[in-house]
Amino acid sequence: MIKLNVKKTFFVASLLLLIGCSNNGELKIGLASIIPKPAEQIIGEGHFEINSNTIVSVENEEQKRIVNQAFDQFKTVAGWRPEVTIGKRGQIVLESDISLEKEGYRLKVTPERIEIKAASGAGFLYAIESLRQILPVEFSDSRLYSNVRWAVPAVEVNDQPAFGWRGYMLDVSRHFFDKEKVKEVLDFMAESKLNRFHWHLADDNGWRLEIKSYPKLTEVGAWRVDHNNTDETISNWWGRPAQKENEKATYGGFYTQEDVKEILAYAKERYIEVIPEIDMPGHAQATIAAYPEIGCVNAAPYVATGGVGENNTYNPGKKETFIFADKMLNEVMDLFPFKYVHIGGDECNKNQWKIDPHAQKRMKEEGLKNEHELQSYFLKRIEKIINKRDRIMIGWDEILEGGLAPNATVMSWRGESGGIKSAKMNHDVIMTPSNYCYIDLKQGHDDLEPNLGYSELLLSKSYSYKVIPDDLTKEEGKHILGIQANMWTESISDWSKLTYMTFPRLYAIAESGWTANENKNWNDFTERLDKQLKRLDIQKVRYAKSAFSPWIDHKGNGETIEISLKTEVNNLDVRYTLNGDEPTAQSEKYVGSFIIDKGVQLKARSFQDGVPIGNVSEVRFPIHKAKGVSVLDANKKELPKLSDLNYGKLNNGDPYWQKLEKDASVKLVFDEVLKVKTLKFNSLRFTNSAVYPPEKIEVYGSKDGTKFIKIGSLDQKEIAHTQGRNKIESSIQLQESDIKELRIDFVSVAPIPEGHRRAGGIGALRIDEIVVE
Ligand code: ACM
Repeated sequence: MIKLNVKKTFFVASLLLLIGCSNNGELKIGLASIIPKPAEQIIGEGHFEINSNTIVSVENEEQKRIVNQAFDQFKTVAGWRPEVTIGKRGQIVLESDISLEKEGYRLKVTPERIEIKAASGAGFLYAIESLRQILPVEFSDSRLYSNVRWAVPAVEVNDQPAFGWRGYMLDVSRHFFDKEKVKEVLDFMAESKLNRFHWHLADDNGWRLEIKSYPKLTEVGAWRVDHNNTDETISNWWGRPAQKENEKATYGGFYTQEDVKEILAYAKERYIEVIPEIDMPGHAQATIAAYPEIGCVNAAPYVATGGVGENNTYNPGKKETFIFADKMLNEVMDLFPFKYVHIGGDECNKNQWKIDPHAQKRMKEEGLKNEHELQSYFLKRIEKIINKRDRIMIGWDEILEGGLAPNATVMSWRGESGGIKSAKMNHDVIMTPSNYCYIDLKQGHDDLEPNLGYSELLLSKSYSYKVIPDDLTKEEGKHILGIQANMWTESISDWSKLTYMTFPRLYAIAESGWTANENKNWNDFTERLDKQLKRLDIQKVRYAKSAFSPWIDHKGNGETIEISLKTEVNNLDVRYTLNGDEPTAQSEKYVGSFIIDKGVQLKARSFQDGVPIGNVSEVRFPIHKAKGVSVLDANKKELPKLSDLNYGKLNNGDPYWQKLEKDASVKLVFDEVLKVKTLKFNSLRFTNSAVYPPEKIEVYGSKDGTKFIKIGSLDQKEIAHTQGRNKIESSIQLQESDIKELRIDFVSVAPIPEGHRRAGGIGALRIDEIVVE
């Protein structure tokens, strides 16, 4: 055996690929390119061919099932399958070795045989998973390759995970995914050696678990009015109207207890433990809609259609609440055998408690100083219900507010501080900080991604996560059980969106969970990723190529625009065109930022060894007649952002947007009289933050700066009043005229329509640039 780096591995394997054709078919040898990266990998010489005569010898039925789970695929791609047998001596041998770590394994491939050793079923599964990954990528296809010989490279892998908790959370409340899709989640988790499935089963927008003692939880709580809009340019989750009196709740679904048993059995075969989450005392609008008697004053009477719930809490002052929680949670614990139960505890809006007589009475009786302490009182009682069954309560880091329940495990999501604090208090912690682990966030440039995430989490950022914070001592660090990717589904209404947001970030998080931090390396990861993505291509799984695609930045100065391009993945060539043509391997190569003085349609693409990779990134940069002109508001305040050639991205925090008040009037003052034909601008719709496009625009022209005549207008009331999160392009044809000054009157949305949580308020405006042509 010789130690080789990954580059050499690729080279050797490619060489073998080239020379490997024989009369019996084309020899395909996979690459020793495993994600998550093994603790130790030593590249050998030669390869082992798996063929119809190969015998796999196993010690028991469990090992047989594990091998069959993976090797059944040979029937699809090869038309045969190796025999898997207990007793006989085969060329692939599975053998228990209790000296190995619980989830660890040893995989040794030589030209003569494959030896697999592990101490547990999980270890064998992970070994077989690594073996599957070093098979050629075509092994993942659904087609028959009748003329191919299947081989794996000689390699020795000695492997075990860095952390015991390697999780994936799926929110099935915001959007429902049926049991077959949940099984697919468990499949991809097992492929990445993840072992904890956190099932977010109850939130404001749906209760998804059959509870026999409380049937209305699913009869009522599983259904909401359907405002789904699957268009990926529009995100209408935040700011959806509430259910009206006569509307029918038709969107939803739930899992029967039989479904749950089936899923649990499926998970068990993949060595995945399942943690149910029932969110309380907040995020409970669906629960309260079903059983209003456990809610507070002003409780929302319907399951939330979207957005942020407000009057959505359990009532910690009523004894009925604890009777409900006890019975319901016991039924949950009857169903789910794992030792952890997640009770949410996040983002509880306590305004209702301040005015609810039961809640206030409880505070007085128990001597609780504030609503945080009331939450802590509630959660401590809930923890007792869970501890009574020898289970452990997990909650999001808000459960620290008002005092942590004595035995709770904390899931740190608002950064790491809650986790650090808890670990220092000797509580166990699972790290899921949103800035590294929330895979519902955008994974690229705001204007080049599907409009699915409300904020940003790039693959490289996700990969860079160090699970144990430096602030902890070695002893305190032992409380960090591991890491988890969280898939919230407000904007994830279907499976293709789910896989798009999951991959490839799941691989990054899986590697942080499995691979020791000092063994992680971004460049090495992205080389191995290339092969994983080819496998996803073959499986026709939608995933994000954002890390490989050019990112386009610009900076205008009112005269010209400086453009710069970059990619997250290193060592790619970026090529671009400025005339709207598709970039090719012959297009201009990007070598550094450049300046344009005329409007362009920029298209850029990455190339690796001359082969295109990632997506084509495209942005239009107009340079127009009003560039750099003086823009004044009604109080003669300069508004340079409206003519500086900087264009705002689909992001409420982007500094290039000009904030304007209600019914703003702005004046563009040109240096000389000129002809104008059209006026265009983008405005931001971000209605959750009460940012709306203008509902009406009137344009006035003046030759002398004193007398103005109306030369164009646009009524876009319907567009402006629609809830969502996107950029709106407005274009106004002007009466062709010679003008020296333009005045533009923007009428903003006011009042904000009923149903919105800021109903009655005034819509703020964000405009990026007034483009005059
Ligand atoms: C959370 O994201 N509210 C846990």
